[in-house]
Amino acid sequence: MKVTYLGHASLSIEMGGKNIIFDPFISGNELAKNIDINSLKADYILLTHGHADHVADVEPIVKNTGAKIVSNFEIVNWFAPKGVVGHPMNHGGKWRFDFGTVKYVNAIHSSSMPDGSYGGNPGGFVVWDDSKCFYVAGDTALTEDMKTIQKTTPKLDFCVLPIGDNFTMDYKDALIASDYLECDTIIAYHYDTFGYIVVDKDIVKKAFKEAGKKIIFLEIGETIDI
Ligand code: NI
Ligand code: MN
Repeated sequence: MKVTYLGHASLSIEMGGKNIIFDPFISGNELAKNIDINSLKADYILLTHGHADHVADVEPIVKNTGAKIVSNFEIVNWFAPKGVVGHPMNHGGKWRFDFGTVKYVNAIHSSSMPDGSYGGNPGGFVVWDDSKCFYVAGDTALTEDMKTIQKTTPKLDFCVLPIGDNFTMDYKDALIASDYLECDTIIAYHYDTFGYIVVDKDIVKKAFKEAGKKIIFLEIGETIDI
């Protein structure tokens, strides 16, 4: 499985011969100016919630690739009149796609669309195939709901957690989240993009190391095999 960081909360994951983009926000992110959205491949775009810093580049990517969106019912309906085809889900539900199974799980946050209309409730995704399972938390606070994830999904190989504070949990809460998730390999996201969420990576790395966990900070555009 290949994971490419596209900056902020955007990731591209290759699994089962398909390309899945999470929460594309690239053209509006000064830090991601080296990523050309026209070069991105996508079969699916998974959207955790409706905020602009998670959905801003959906339409151009869909236009280029014909990708299908997967999100909550309200977000899929909001995009439908724009010619974006989607698969609607809601919390606690899962669906088997051609690349693997996706479960939409709880997040503690808010979710309005860029025009202010209702974006349903925010979520995260647990995704698995026969060999790997991972969790992309979306924007969320630390919540004990995370303790329920491993009761209903395969063992997590890695989790992608926000650490930027202010709009989401900080790294200390993410450390507790990784305990709740029983997962010691964490990819950090949702940090540094705005002044409100700048982090000191050395402090974060030290805290995770002391806890015996591995936190991965990917460069924007960097791909890892995981
Ligand atoms: Ni948000
Ligand atoms: Mn956000």
